[in-house]
This record gives sequence, structure tokens and C-alpha cells, in this order.
Amino acid sequence: MKNSLQEPALRIAPSILSADFARLADQVAEVESAGADLLHLDVMDGHFVPNLTFGPVIVKRLRKHSKLFFDAHLMITDPRKYAEPFIKAGANHITFHIETVEHPDELVDHLHSLGVSAGVSLNPTTPVSTIEPILPKIDMVLVMSVWPGFGGQAFIPDVLDKVRELKTRLQPSQRLEIDGGIDSDTVVSATEAGADTIVAGSAVFGEPDPGAALQRLRAVAVPVYEEHRG
Ligand code: DX5
Ligand code: ZN
Repeated sequence: MKNSLQEPALRIAPSILSADFARLADQVAEVESAGADLLHLDVMDGHFVPNLTFGPVIVKRLRKHSKLFFDAHLMITDPRKYAEPFIKAGANHITFHIETVEHPDELVDHLHSLGVSAGVSLNPTTPVSTIEPILPKIDMVLVMSVWPGFGGQAFIPDVLDKVRELKTRLQPSQRLEIDGGIDSDTVVSATEAGADTIVAGSAVFGEPDPGAALQRLRAVAVPVYEEHRG
């Protein structure tokens, strides 16, 4: 495994949602050789969000082609039921949505018992108070900066207040991910606010050269991170 949740301090996670699924392995290889830190896998069930993507079978096939850390973002109504199949398929980390679970504490323990790190995601208007009970044990918080379901949407700047609040609450080993509408402009304000794990779909795979696009994004984000957090 090339990467983990800990290194480097500022990580870029390309989202395959905007990749060409007919040549997925090649596209992933492009961002892997360009230095991607994590691979963000957007799983949608057509129920929690109004779109469908893929299940464990794709993750299992992709696993054979990549050594990247697989960061699975489950935008599904029943993450408890499907976490294990995704982990068995090769996911290294599972993020669930707080809006979908009644017993988040138990789910975090379950994920840890299955040997992966656990993340919790907040929709744009979901407050930090909803994850208060699991804050001490969560490995990563994912702040949605668009409404989940589709790539290519505009960044919602209001969520930056939540990123700032979380940054003051999380320990250095707990990661803060931002997802949606990230480009070379919005990555600056997201990183200034405290995000350390940057998901980018269309800003990477929507570009003619995804590897070069990833490196441009990193070249913008790392100096901002070092100025504010280094
Ligand atoms: C949206 C997904 C995102 C998506 C981001 O529901 O969770 O990960 O891929 O796409 P962009 O970067 O294009 O907004
Ligand atoms: Zn996502």
C-alpha cells in the first residue's frame, strides 16, 4: 500500500466519478503515476442520492490494477449492510453519511473491527453537532461542499464555516476531507479553512491530462496548507 490516511499532510484524492468508466484502469493508472494520494470511490444507491454508480464488483476488479489507498464514500441508505462487501472487495477506508445511520457509534466500531479506518460525512446543511458523539473516535470527517449525487457542481462556500469549526475540534491525526466543486480557486479557500484531504472529480478527470491536472491542483494547495498549517 503506497498511502495511508496519515501521509502526506495534504492529500489529493481524485474521484473516479468523472473518469471514463470504459477505461477505468488506465485512468486510475494515470493519476496513480502522477502521485495521487488516495483514490476516492463514490458509491451511490439511487435512494439516499438521486443517482447510481457502482458496487463492490467494480472495486474488486479495480483493486487488481492499483496500489492506491481506496477511500470509499458511501452515499447509500444502508452503509452498515454494505460496508463489509466493499472492504472485502478492497476498500481501505469507509465513509458513511451521518444522515443515514441511527447508531453511528456502533458503525464506527464495526468498521474498525473489520480493519479499516472510518469516516463520517455531513451534507451541506447538516451541523457538526450531529457527529458530536463520535468525534473522538472517527478517523476522518468529510464535509460535502455540494449536495451529493453528481460531479461537476458549483462549490457551496457556506460550508467553510463548518470546516473551520471542525478544524478546531479534530486532533492532528484526524483528517478533514472536503468533497465537491473543488478546482484551482476553491481549493485555496478550502485548504485555508482547514481541509487536508481534497477530493477532486471533474477538476482531474474532466481535464485532457488527468495526471497533469492533479499535479496542478497539488501545486496550488500545498503552499496554502504549509502557510496556514505547516
Ligand atoms: C458528489 C461526490 C463527489 C464528486 C465530486 O456526490 O461525492 O466525490 O465526485 O465531483 P466534483 O469534484 O466534480 O465536484
Ligand atoms: Zn465523494
